[in-house]
Amino acid sequence: MKIRSIPPGQKTTHKELLVAFASTGKNPNLGASMQTFVKKAKATGDLSTDNRAVSLFRPDGRGAAKRVLFVGMGKRSDVDAERLRRAAAVAQKRAAGIKVKGFRLLVNSDDHQGLAADVAARSIVEGLILASYKYAKPSGTKPKPPHANQVELQYVGPDQKGFKAGVQLGRIGSEATVFARDIENAAGNIATPTYLAKEARKFKKPGLTVKILEERDMARLKMGSLLGVSRGSKEPAKLIVMDYKPTDYKKTVCVVGKGLTFDTGGISLKPGGKMDEMRYDMCGGGAVLGLFHAISNGGMKGVRGKVRIVGIVPSSENMPGSEAQKPGDVVTACDGTTIEVLNTDAEGRLILADALAYAKKTYKPAQMVDLATLTGAVIVALGHEMSGIMGTDDALIDDLIEAGQLADEPLWQLPLWDVHREQMKSKFADLANINSPGNGNGSTAGGAFLSYFTKGVKWAHMDIAGSAWGAKAKDYYTNGAAGVAVRTLLHWVRGLK
Ligand code: BES
Ligand code: MN
Ligand code: ZN
Repeated sequence: MKIRSIPPGQKTTHKELLVAFASTGKNPNLGASMQTFVKKAKATGDLSTDNRAVSLFRPDGRGAAKRVLFVGMGKRSDVDAERLRRAAAVAQKRAAGIKVKGFRLLVNSDDHQGLAADVAARSIVEGLILASYKYAKPSGTKPKPPHANQVELQYVGPDQKGFKAGVQLGRIGSEATVFARDIENAAGNIATPTYLAKEARKFKKPGLTVKILEERDMARLKMGSLLGVSRGSKEPAKLIVMDYKPTDYKKTVCVVGKGLTFDTGGISLKPGGKMDEMRYDMCGGGAVLGLFHAISNGGMKGVRGKVRIVGIVPSSENMPGSEAQKPGDVVTACDGTTIEVLNTDAEGRLILADALAYAKKTYKPAQMVDLATLTGAVIVALGHEMSGIMGTDDALIDDLIEAGQLADEPLWQLPLWDVHREQMKSKFADLANINSPGNGNGSTAGGAFLSYFTKGVKWAHMDIAGSAWGAKAKDYYTNGAAGVAVRTLLHWVRGLK
């Protein structure tokens, strides 16, 4: 999608459709003749200001556009970022429905009372870009160019500069989300660890380097836990390391994402129903790749705090091949911790263990965050509309929750206590990769296991198994991968001091 800002008063090239928001009360962004028109249309019931309602008119050809589309937002005082995002998404979808090439979207500062212009702009652009997303099926024929994928955004309001900045950030965050959705939706035989590594290598930006650790490198580093998971598969595992290092950086943070490109469960094989969905088991890695897509696209422009950001994606398949690890096997992670693999399906924590220990030792980060589709249990606890978060530093967790609020990607904190950590001890090794089924707590057990590999570092773990896919459709998301947490991470790193 192409979005162009045009100054107020400038003539549009998209005469086929004008879009405006409609809330209760006046519509100040319309000229006098339109005002009369709107007043009448409201009175006759032809124009609805109900939230997400669309009203389409052909105003007799005399105005500036052949057609005018209003998208309702309800009561003006109820308009928040999510409502704007959804209204913009509704507009994009309706415009595509009438098959126009593009449209002009008129926004007035009165459309977003109580919201800063940059927040409004960002939300609108996110709605437009994310609504137009469609996974391009891998087929030989070239897809037709989509409808309504050119937008001229015209803002009438005092803070033009803020609005422009919001448009930029909205574009960067949503294009990165689209990038993540594309990798996440790709089938398991397409989006392999090698494929993820190849995508990461494409990021280009001064100060940004990408390196890929191969299995022989992991063996040299004694990453027995990651390699144990990869054993059952022919696809070689990769450890993707993306390093954004501004000159005179003040501190380092590491963001680690589970990049399990297909999870069969291994020898502890999963049931067949819906197993295809386990291609989404790399969505933590998808979020980290998305973050670096944003960074390489100018996502850190204008940020004052100089922070080195290291993104690490351990990527592997979990297959039950003849060399696969077996329940009861004991592996040793790169920090020397021994792990009894009681269930080969609890593999995410095994690949993350080595990645976290490696991140901690190599980069000595001030803070560390990991994201993973780690447990089915988090869906039982929180459903699909939010992610779980836990960790060892409440200030860091609060910052991430706040970043999630800015992105409208909610996070809910779960406890991580010593009682949980105790459950992870094993009779045959330092740790077991699962707690006993009688304990009941699945998500916090996964978090507790990871905590052993982050000792001494402020750390938070996001379990995105629910939010990564399967949420209810909401105008800018319909089905498949959500590209969740890309925008949250971008807000978080931009806010680091
Ligand atoms: N990738 C799964 C978690 C998952 C399950 C994500 C369902 C999304 C939907 C993870 O590797 C896994 O299999 N976890 C097990 C852990 C168990 C063996 C302790 C689970 O949740 O069942
Ligand atoms: Mn699993
Ligand atoms: Zn998994």
